[in-house]
Amino acid sequence: MPHESLPAQLRTADARRPVCVISSSAMTTLPLDASGKPVTTNAQLVKWVDEMAALCKPDRIVWVDGSAAENERFTKQAVEAKVLEPLNQEKLPNCYLHRSNPNDVARVEHLTFICTPTKEEAGPTNNWMDPKEGYAKLGKLLDGSMRGRTMYVIPYVMGPLGSPISKVGIEITDSVYVVLNMRIMTRVGTCALTMLGDSNDFNRGMHCTLDVDPEKRFICHFPQDNTIWSVGSGYGGNVLLGKKCLALRIGSYLGRNEGWLAEHMLILGVESPEGEVTYVAAAFPSACGKTNFAMMIPPKRFKGWKIWTVGDDIAWMKINPEDGRLYAINPEAGYFGVAPGTSYDSNYNAMKSIAKDTIFTNVARTPDGDVWWEGKDKEPPPELIDWQGRPWKAGTTEKAAHPNARFTAPARNNPSLSKYADDPQGVPISAIIFGGRRATTIPLVMQAFNWMNGVYMGATMGSETTAAATGQVGVVRRDPFAMLPFCGYNMGDYFAHWLEMQGSITNPPKLFMVNWFRKDKNGRFMWPGFGENMRVLKWIVDRARLRVGGQETLFGWVPKAGDLDLSGLDVPSDTVDEACNVDLDEWSTEIESHGEFFDKIGATLPRALRIQRDLYVARIAAARNWKRGTTVRPPK
Ligand code: OXD
Ligand code: MN
Repeated sequence: MPHESLPAQLRTADARRPVCVISSSAMTTLPLDASGKPVTTNAQLVKWVDEMAALCKPDRIVWVDGSAAENERFTKQAVEAKVLEPLNQEKLPNCYLHRSNPNDVARVEHLTFICTPTKEEAGPTNNWMDPKEGYAKLGKLLDGSMRGRTMYVIPYVMGPLGSPISKVGIEITDSVYVVLNMRIMTRVGTCALTMLGDSNDFNRGMHCTLDVDPEKRFICHFPQDNTIWSVGSGYGGNVLLGKKCLALRIGSYLGRNEGWLAEHMLILGVESPEGEVTYVAAAFPSACGKTNFAMMIPPKRFKGWKIWTVGDDIAWMKINPEDGRLYAINPEAGYFGVAPGTSYDSNYNAMKSIAKDTIFTNVARTPDGDVWWEGKDKEPPPELIDWQGRPWKAGTTEKAAHPNARFTAPARNNPSLSKYADDPQGVPISAIIFGGRRATTIPLVMQAFNWMNGVYMGATMGSETTAAATGQVGVVRRDPFAMLPFCGYNMGDYFAHWLEMQGSITNPPKLFMVNWFRKDKNGRFMWPGFGENMRVLKWIVDRARLRVGGQETLFGWVPKAGDLDLSGLDVPSDTVDEACNVDLDEWSTEIESHGEFFDKIGATLPRALRIQRDLYVARIAAARNWKRGTTVRPPK
């Protein structure tokens, strides 16, 4: 590779080259807008874009300004290039369909790398690549990759403008689909450049679709350089670099260094009929219903109660020194949600959010230009065009929409959007929930005894895998804090960071675990889920506010009979009791498997977690003795 094409990280001398604006024939040292004014005077930013242009050699460079006019232009171009297909504009105003390459439909965890100077820093749960190797390998693929293409430069903010918790990123991409999605998912354009000013503190994100060849697909993170390089994919989770790459992988690394938390959590507000609002954050692995939970409508029984959505996927939380509480912002501005299963029954507010201004990816299309996916209505239309653009007939066994088909919709469309969703201060968090998809063992809800016990719950979360990532679906894997694919450094150090945070949060949220997916002996779900989760949420809010009872078990507090409001619920109370049950044998197996997972984490696992596990093992042994009527007696 010629010296000039190498990124700054690999060069010894700075080969400053002019940046081209709008078209490569119009070279200038500063990027200019249409009226001839510099888009930015930030020397570090211009220098980096210059380097990336020298590497990728695009025909033209376009700086994204975030305006409505620009949106119209990009959309038109995307339609002309057949990247987007207009949908029925009467039924779905300003909505478009995108079909991805069928080999590129989900995140690719096996091709996602954390490139830290040592393997230990990335830890045993991440794929590691030496940063030099990462830059060289991807640099080679990027060299000349944008010949004949446009290079878009997207300045964006993750989080409310002006928030001390927010961060600025710049994503370079050759994909107009990425530009249009980033415009929905983040705050883009001039606002980001204004927030950045002359600072060098911005994430450097480089994306090129290349020829969508899985052999040339790599998602590399360089936490020490606040840099992301993603090549060979067009799928949202791999290429909307503000989301999983910056907001979680790089964000978690920055959070540890700077004393805050970047988490795979929704944020919602629960408003009581009296107008009291309690904010809750909740971590669930991908495709476990975070969006549904964040937009839940309480059942009829809960007259006057309201759920307000702050975020559906990611929470950045910082301690406010004034009151010692954790405050959360949603770094995103839109929803990149899973379409299959979304319906007016399962998520009314999501359906409203996607009724306009939405990009649908890999859904099916009806003959009259509407969208369809499995679970949208009970009966599919007789004929569809499937997610790959092929004719589809009802009764065929193949799915019409891809199981990981997505919608990208602006948060402003959501009728339940919290009025504080854009508040630079964030919202104060009273409870944090850890959830997973577990057919057995894990009760409907359980409160941790304390912070330490709660961190243990988060660290040992398990879930059955879903279609959000490639690989086998339906096997239980440990997914600590729902961060397994998203932690940008050593997981053991991440646990230690959570434990250490306790020292600074003088007024901590209460910690809980939930499981909506427990099944009975016949394989039927014991809890109806969806809006009925409000009943569990109310117990959580009341526990966080110290005003409802619970039953102590060996591992935490569960609701005792009568604590959960079950009125009007079409489920026998015995079934609910069974859903809340803590079974010693099941937990014994569970704790055993925690041990295996801890062994995998190895030397960086905080000693406190290992001791906590030993304590559970000892408690189980003691409880078995109660059962045999020997040694320790159970409490009366
Ligand atoms: C997502 C995911 O897209 O977790 O949110 O995969
Ligand atoms: Mn997610």
